[in-house]
Amino acid sequence: MTQRVYKKLPSTIAIDGPAASGKTTIGNLIANKFGYICLDTGIMYRAVALQALDEGINVFDEEAVSELAERIDIEIRPTAADDERQFDVIIDGIDHTWDIRSPQVNQNVSEVSVYPRVRAAMTKLQRQIAEQGKIVMVGRDIGTVVLPDADLKIYLDASVDVRAERRYFEDLGRGKKVCLEEIMESLQHRDEIDSNRAVAPLKPAQDAVLINSDDMTVFQVIETILDLFSEYQP
Ligand code: CDP
Repeated sequence: MTQRVYKKLPSTIAIDGPAASGKTTIGNLIANKFGYICLDTGIMYRAVALQALDEGINVFDEEAVSELAERIDIEIRPTAADDERQFDVIIDGIDHTWDIRSPQVNQNVSEVSVYPRVRAAMTKLQRQIAEQGKIVMVGRDIGTVVLPDADLKIYLDASVDVRAERRYFEDLGRGKKVCLEEIMESLQHRDEIDSNRAVAPLKPAQDAVLINSDDMTVFQVIETILDLFSEYQP
């Protein structure tokens, strides 16, 4: 690994990009290296979708979903479990760490994420968590909306084929029953809604550094980001 000198570290790092582009993997590795926390904001939108499904709320009922987002209690806390999870995700007191990754949630999460009141509630929580600094925040609108003054913004992209393949092997490794075509369709469905919604659509911030990881290993992406850290000047 290259020896680098870090003059001053960026304190808030935004990583945005489409579904399964590797944001969380990269975000966690960077955060671990520097002792920062990594917040995967997708967890919050997934929690709203899961809770709506569990409560029998129609995801197209904007008023009911918005009301739910404003009252839901989402706790993301360090885990003691030994099952590959990064954190425990506790929703209204119940551990739903793996439930938020279900195909049903994948199918409905982008629908609930378009609602302005849902986004406002989640953005408020995310900004509160970021206040302490030393944070890598991962999502779709972090560099554009949630933390427009982030010290470093990265937009991590990859073609849909590569992303689907990565998610396929990730799910397979977790013992899930998976079908590559279904994963591809599900990613395309979410990308379409996430990119075209009126509020906080998925897009790179003007000052984001674009990284396309199609032909890159995780190690190479990390090396590229570490170069950005060493070049960082406040
Ligand atoms: O992990 P993956 O890339 O599959 O998705 P995720 O980051 O868990 O996000 C799930 C969904 O939440 C996205 O498809 C978006 O609809 C929504 N989301 C969002 O709207 N804004 C964010 N900052 C993060 C996620």
